[in-house]
Amino acid sequence: MVKLGVNIDHVATVRQARLGSFPDPLQAALAVQSAGAQGITVHLREDRRHIQDHDVLSIRKKIKIPLNLEMAATPAMIRFALRARPQEVCLVPEKRQELTTEGGLDIVSRVPDLRKKISALKKSGIRVSLFVDPDLKQIRGSHDAGADCVELHTGRYAEVFGSRHQASELRKLEAAGREAVRLGLALNAGHGLDYVNVRPVAGMDGMHTLNIGFSIVARALFVGLDQAVREMKALIK
Ligand code: PXP
Repeated sequence: MVKLGVNIDHVATVRQARLGSFPDPLQAALAVQSAGAQGITVHLREDRRHIQDHDVLSIRKKIKIPLNLEMAATPAMIRFALRARPQEVCLVPEKRQELTTEGGLDIVSRVPDLRKKISALKKSGIRVSLFVDPDLKQIRGSHDAGADCVELHTGRYAEVFGSRHQASELRKLEAAGREAVRLGLALNAGHGLDYVNVRPVAGMDGMHTLNIGFSIVARALFVGLDQAVREMKALIK
């Protein structure tokens, strides 16, 4: 069964709009857990625009389902992850000006550097995932760098969903997914997935976890977080 990891960054986005204490991402994480999600994802960005260090630490302490910490592969973030000890880290590229993560990590150009960082995280018992575009070279590079898992970037698929490019983008995801599974990497996917476009990705062979944030938090405004999570779970199982 495909698992659902819920990204709660945008609960923190609302809180940061007033720099106050609510809505609390920890409370959201607990609600998401009660609704049956199998994981919580947070992205601790270098500019701390939504999730803060203390959110990661309190969520790690208080939830029972695995925490997946998305972060840039910088020395400072690696140090933070070694302190916070999430069950999983997903390394992502980060640009200060972007609205959200725009592309996958370029693994191929920096395998030796990533290998060292991945090894430090794995030694502490943290599973390491790499956020990559559906490109066979990047999948093989992820394997060479020692990752446990790849998360396929579904942003382009989501962008062209409903257009004549949808089928070819899905085929790229499927080919990358097959290569990941062949190499023994766990297969996750995420970015831009919503209640309309999620099913073909959930149906891919070997899919382990989908990490979904914006569409669930947006739907929660109208139906509540519990129902928003349950509806997504029902779609992907
Ligand atoms: N996976 C990764 C690596 C991401 O960076 C994001 C966005 O923070 C997501 C999944 C979730 O994307 P969305 O919020 O569009 O569902």
